[in-house]
Amino acid sequence: MKTDEIIKLYNEYVMPTYLKSPLVIARGKGARVWDIEGKEYLDFFPGWAVSGLGHCHPFVVKALKRQLSKTLHVSNNFYNELQGELARVIIKNSFDGKVFFANSGAEANEAAIKLARLYGGPDRFETISMENSFHGRTLATLTLTGQEKHRQGFEPLPEGFRTVPFNDIKAIEEAVNEKTIAIIVELIQGEGGINVASKEYIRFLRRFCSKKDILLIFDEVQTGMGRTGKMFCFQHFGIEPDMMSLSKTLGGGFPISALIAKRKLADTFTPGTHASTFGGSPLACVSSLAVFEAIKNNDLLLNAENMGEYLFERLKTLKEKFSFIKEIRGIGLMLGVELSRQGKLIVDACMKEGLLLNCTQDKVLRILPPLTVNKKDIDEGIRLLEKGFLSQL
Ligand SMILES: Cc1ncc(COP(=O)(O)O)c(C=O)c1O
Repeated sequence: MKTDEIIKLYNEYVMPTYLKSPLVIARGKGARVWDIEGKEYLDFFPGWAVSGLGHCHPFVVKALKRQLSKTLHVSNNFYNELQGELARVIIKNSFDGKVFFANSGAEANEAAIKLARLYGGPDRFETISMENSFHGRTLATLTLTGQEKHRQGFEPLPEGFRTVPFNDIKAIEEAVNEKTIAIIVELIQGEGGINVASKEYIRFLRRFCSKKDILLIFDEVQTGMGRTGKMFCFQHFGIEPDMMSLSKTLGGGFPISALIAKRKLADTFTPGTHASTFGGSPLACVSSLAVFEAIKNNDLLLNAENMGEYLFERLKTLKEKFSFIKEIRGIGLMLGVELSRQGKLIVDACMKEGLLLNCTQDKVLRILPPLTVNKKDIDEGIRLLEKGFLSQL
C-alpha cells in the first residue's frame, strides 16, 4: 500500500485521537527508522521514549524470539519465573519494596492512587499533583494531570484530586490538609515542557511527606530506565520515594508498566483489591529483563550522561546562532529547547530533512534520543535541526 492509501484507511477506520504526521513507518533499527518508500530518518523521539534503547535492540529481539516458542501468556493466578525475576531486578536497581505489573503508564499511576487510598483509609484519600504535569488519560489519571485542556469535556471528574504550582514549597504547605494521602510529581515534567524539579523542592517534599505520613510518588514513566544518565531520575536527588511508576523504556518497545511501592505499603494490596489481566506477561518480562541487561552490559547509563552533555553543548551552539531559541534545559538525554515561536513548523521542517523530534506546550522541542546514541548521530541530528531552523527564517 502507498502512504495516502494507508492514511485513508486510518481516516475511515481508526478513531482520530492523535495529531499525526503524514509518515508511514515500516521498520526501525537503532536510532533510525525508514518509511514505506524507503526514506531514512534519524529518530530523536523514538516512540515517546518507548524505544528508549533504539528500535529493535538486539537483546530485546533475541529475548522475545526465544520466549515466543515457550509461552506467550501466563495467567496471574499462576506463577512464572520471569515476573518474579523482573520484580527482583527492578527492586535491586531502585529501592526496597515490591512491584505491581500493568501495561501502560496510566495504569501504573492508577495503581498508585488506589494503593494510596487503601493505605490512607476512608478519611485520607486526596492526592496532590503539579500544574503542567502529565500522568495519563484514564479518568483518575487525567484528573491528576495538571493541565485543564486534557480534562475538558470529561466532567464530572472523580473527587479527591488537587493540583498546585510545580517547584513551589509554599503552595504544598498550604494545600495539604488532613485528607491528603499522597503527593505525585514528575522529576522532569515531560509533556509539560521539560521542566526540571529543583533539588531543594524534592528534598523538602521528602522531609515534609515523611513528617506528615504522606506518600511521595514519583512518576518516572518518562524519566526512568536510564533516560537521565542514572537508572532512575530520583537517584540524582539523594532521596527515595514511597512509590514510583514506570513504563515506556521499561519494555524496550514491548508494552509493560510497573508500580514499585516500599515494603511497608506494598502488602496493602491483597488478592482481589487490584489486578491487570495482561500485567507482567512473559513476553513483557523478557523484554524488560533484556533492557536491564543491555543498559548494564553496554554501559548505557554512562553513555546517556556523556551523550546528554555532548548534545546539550551542541544545542548551545545553535542557541548562539538562532535568536528564537530561548532556553535549553533537561538532564541527560531528556532535553527541551524552548523557542519564542511555534515549534510545530520546525518539527515538520526537520521531518522533511530526515529528523524526527517532538514539540510540546507549543514552543518546546522535546529531544529524547535513544540511550545508545553516539556522537556521529548527534552531529547529524544537529546538522538536520539547523537545516530545519534555517528553513523557517
Ligand atoms: C510522565 C508520564 N506519566 C504517564 C504517562 C501515561 O502513559 P501511557 O500513555 O502509557 O498511559 C505518560 C505518557 O506520556 C507520561 O509521560
